[in-house]
Order: sequence, then C-alpha cells, then structure tokens
Amino acid sequence: MQNARTVHDAFDLTGRVALVTGAGSGIGRTTAEVLAGAGATVICADIDAGSAAETASGILGQGGRAESAELDVSVRGAASTLVGHVVARHRGLHVMCNIAGTMIDSSIVDVDPDEFDRIVAVNLKGVLYGCQAAGKVMAAQRGGSIVNMSSAAVLAPAAGVGPYAITKAGVAQLTQTMALEVGQYNVRVNCVAPGFVPTNMTARYYTGPDGAVDEQAKAAVLAPMARMAPLRRVGETADIAYCVLYLAADASSFVTGQLISPNGGVSMHY
Ligand SMILES: NC(=O)c1ccc[n+]([C@@H]2O[C@H](COP(=O)([O-])OP(=O)(O)OC[C@H]3O[C@@H](n4cnc5c(N)ncnc54)[C@H](O)[C@@H]3O)[C@@H](O)[C@H]2O)c1
Repeated sequence: MQNARTVHDAFDLTGRVALVTGAGSGIGRTTAEVLAGAGATVICADIDAGSAAETASGILGQGGRAESAELDVSVRGAASTLVGHVVARHRGLHVMCNIAGTMIDSSIVDVDPDEFDRIVAVNLKGVLYGCQAAGKVMAAQRGGSIVNMSSAAVLAPAAGVGPYAITKAGVAQLTQTMALEVGQYNVRVNCVAPGFVPTNMTARYYTGPDGAVDEQAKAAVLAPMARMAPLRRVGETADIAYCVLYLAADASSFVTGQLISPNGGVSMHY
C-alpha cells in the first residue's frame, strides 16, 4: 500500500505545463481548472479568446498558474505555432488535452457536406493537428501525456448523431495508433469517452431562440438520460476532468492507447 505522500505525488502536476483546447467552456474549462488545481501551469486555448481568458483569470484568482490563447484547432499549423510559443516560453509541454469540439444533429443520409467538412475539421483534424504538434515535442523531450476527447457516441451508436460519432470514432482510432507509434519515447496517448454532460454543447436541446434555457425542456431531456444510466444521473464536467487528470498524471504511467468511459455505466466494454 502506498503512503499518502506517494499517492499525492502520483497526481501532482507541479512544474508541468499543460495545454487545454476548448478551455473556454464546459469540460475543457473544468479540465483546465482541475489540472491547475493539481499544480500545472495551464495554457487555456479556445477559438473564443474571451472565454479562454475568463478561464485563465478564474484559475489565477484561485492562486493557480494559467495563461490564455486564441486557437482555432481546425486551422492547419495553428496548434503547432501555439505549441512552439508554449515550449519557447515554458521550456516544455508535458500534457496536451485535445478537448475542443463541436456538434451537429443530422442523419447520415441528410448531412450537409459543408457541415460535415466543418465537424471533421474541428473534431478530427483538430485533434490530429494537436496530437502532431504535441507529439513531436514530447517525443523529443522523451515524455508526455496526450488526452483526446472522444464520446460515448462511438460505443452506443444513436440515430441522428452519426456525423459527430464518426469524428469521435476517428479520435479513438487516432489515439490507439499514435500510442503504438510514440510509446517508445515515453509518450502516452489516451482518450476519454464521456456520457451525457450538460454543457453549452448539450444546451441546444433545451434553449429557446432567444438564448434562454427552458428549465422544463431541460428536465425533460435530462431525466431520461439519467434513468438510462446504472448510476441514475447525468455527468458533471468534473467527472470528466478527473479522468483527464488521472491520464495526465504519473498515476497512469502504465496506461496508453486506452479509451476511458466516464458515463455512469451507460455502456460497458472490455
Ligand atoms: N457534453 C457532453 O455530453 C459530451 C459528451 C461526450 C463528449 N463530449 C466532448 O467533450 C468536448 C467538450 O464539449 P463540451 O460539452 O464541454 O462543449 P462546450 O460547447 O461547452 O465546449 C466546447 C469548447 O470548444 C470550443 N471550440 C469549438 N470549436 C473550436 C475550434 N475550432 N477551435 C478551438 N476551440 C473550439 C468552444 O468555443 C467551446 O469553448 C467536445 O469534444 C465534445 O464533443 C461532450
């Protein structure tokens, strides 16, 4: 049995530098906060520079270390430029969390080609570019942890979210193949496949045209989601962020190429 000091060390990120994409909202914001809470210096990146700055200032207000950056993950070269700045400034990058994502509701048959290009660009190519940028730096420095955001949608296909699920299945495959390729450099690559977590992304199901949340509609969406789960609840952003912390930290130093499913037990897999 390990003593409390070594358990603390296993989750301690003091002295590490972490870049989190999609850090302006939801799961990305809470992940940035949790990694900072574990001691990391967190670069909060988002296409929405203002919300990324809010996340960073929240962390600074709690006594943590954070910076913010504007980043559109879908733009070729953008992640690699940002990673270059981070490495020049902080002399390394130890944790890369590719969390930025977007969603469309469409059947496979009807998906608009432009919308499909866009979701592939953000959810799949965005993760690829982030993995490439971080992977090169981490392989050269002989260590690092990359955590990609997949989705429960890949384990339990559902009608109407196919285009999104395709991108997230690609993320899971990318994660495994990259883990094979960079393991020899002590770089770990894993992904997280969350179940339903109320965030800005899911709010489209219960937000009116005026932008106001319809509480009745929200309850009507969340209640069946909660009933579906053996744990009888939907997720919270912290449920996902703590999985990311585990994968980012030395606690998971023997874990790579895995898909971890914080989903209340909705789906189970070997
Ligand atoms: N909420 C859920 O139920 C759920 C379930 C499974 C997986 N996920 C995944 O978790 C991740 C976070 O989702 P969330 O629910 O927190 O959503 P969210 O909408 O609250 O946050 C997404 C963030 O990504 C940013 N973003 C979007 N496009 C971007 C781009 N091109 N470049 C950089 N940033 C961009 C947005 O500005 C936003 O801050 C996504 O990848 C999503 O697919 C969410």
